[in-house]
Order: sequence, then structure tokens, then C-alpha cells
Amino acid sequence: MFEAIKVVDGKPFALTRHLNRLARSAAALGLPEPDDELFRSAVAEVLAQEQLPLGRLRITYTGGPAELGSGRGDVTPTTVVVADVMNAAPETTAVVRVPWPRNERGAMAGVKSTSYAENVVALAEAARYDATEAIFENLAGHLCEGTGTNVGYVVDGEVRTPTLGSGCLAGVTRALLLEWYDVVEVDEPISVLDSADEIFLMSTTRDVQGVHRIDGRELPAPGPLTRALVELWSAKEAEHPDP
Ligand SMILES: Cc1ncc(COP(=O)(O)O)c(C=O)c1O
Repeated sequence: MFEAIKVVDGKPFALTRHLNRLARSAAALGLPEPDDELFRSAVAEVLAQEQLPLGRLRITYTGGPAELGSGRGDVTPTTVVVADVMNAAPETTAVVRVPWPRNERGAMAGVKSTSYAENVVALAEAARYDATEAIFENLAGHLCEGTGTNVGYVVDGEVRTPTLGSGCLAGVTRALLLEWYDVVEVDEPISVLDSADEIFLMSTTRDVQGVHRIDGRELPAPGPLTRALVELWSAKEAEHPDP
């Protein structure tokens, strides 16, 4: 499994939440519990190599070498930590819905595993329409998430996002916004996006990003509530590196 972590002024943002999620993903895959201190010192060592005003860290944690086949093996896990510069995401973007559902009942639902081939295919489909994110429904036909983002939207002045029961990843950005703002968690048919007044994406690499086009529909973006969330995010991010 892996984690992508934002680096702000050379420091990892929300590292504790990311390490906690890594531990949850490891448990879901039956891997040994990651050594928190080892990960923290590896992250510090990597970040000490290069001054990154804005960057992203990637921690990958695997079962280590194993026999051919799908057996897990029982050797020491492999850990890789890399960092790179990151450009701030544009204020708004375009998205498309894709026809392949997320399986909210699957063993890997909500786990940040490295098996991202479905995301690769969906993102390539989005690129065909000049969009930067693909939005999935789940098997129930409800809105789920993007390939690397959680989705929020506004209906009747209410900011909403799918529940974790939808099979979406428990995004760190999503979790923080749920704590900081009045966001309603609800599962609804993906068609709710046809009439939503605002749509936005939430993720480590995009923070809060307005959506100005979904499929063929143009939206004013960022809308007023999306803008409020963007401002809230930058204020809170500056307040604490590990909220
Ligand atoms: C499938 C998926 N959903 C949502 C997210 C957003 O999570 P976070 O806010 O922790 O970056 C990610 C992040 O990479 C993701 O891979």
C-alpha cells in the first residue's frame, strides 16, 4: 500500500493521519504493523536531502519479496520513501463520470493499495475528454469518489460528500474538512451531480479544487461555498502542520 503526503515548507502535512491510514491499510492486507518511528525517521531523512517549499512524499509499504503467484510470503516488508517537487493544482478543473463501478463490498474497498490499474484506466479515459479526474459510482449506483480524490458537492446550500460506506477512501483532506466545516455525509445516486450547484474535489495534491465542467455540463467554479472551503483550508493548513 502507499501514502501520498503533502510537503509544505519542507515539512510533511498531516503525517500522523497518513501514518494511521497506512497502518489501517496494512492491517487490511494482513501485513505487519508498520513501525511508526521508523517511518517518521525515514521521512525526516528524505526531506533533509532537499529543501521543498511545496512537494509530495510517497511512502510505499509492501509485503516484500515473495514466490511467484499471489501468496503473501512471510519475509520482512519493503519500505520505500521518496519525495518530489509538486506544483500547486489549478483553482478549478474538469471531470468526467466513468462507467466502471467501485466495489464498495470488495476486500480492498477504502484501502489505499498499490493496485491502482482501475484508476489508471479511468484517468486515461478522463484525459480523452480533456479532464483531470474520473468520477466513479459504486455498485449501488451511488456517487463514490475520483481516482485519487474525494468528491464534494452543494445542493440547496448544503455541502455534501459520500459516506465511507460508499467504498470511497477515507481521505485525509475529506476528514479534516468534515472536522472544520459543516459537511453532510450522505449517499445518493451519482445523478445528483447533474443538478448540484457546485462540485469540488478533495485530496492531498489538490486540497480543495472547484469543478468547472462535468461531462458536458459547465458550472460556475469555484462557487461560493467551494471558495469558502478553499479559504478555510489555507488558513487551517498554515495553523498546524499535523492537525
Ligand atoms: C482513491 C482515492 N480517493 C481519495 C483520495 C484522497 O485522499 P487524501 O485526501 O488523503 O489525499 C485518494 C488520495 O490519493 C485516493 O487515492
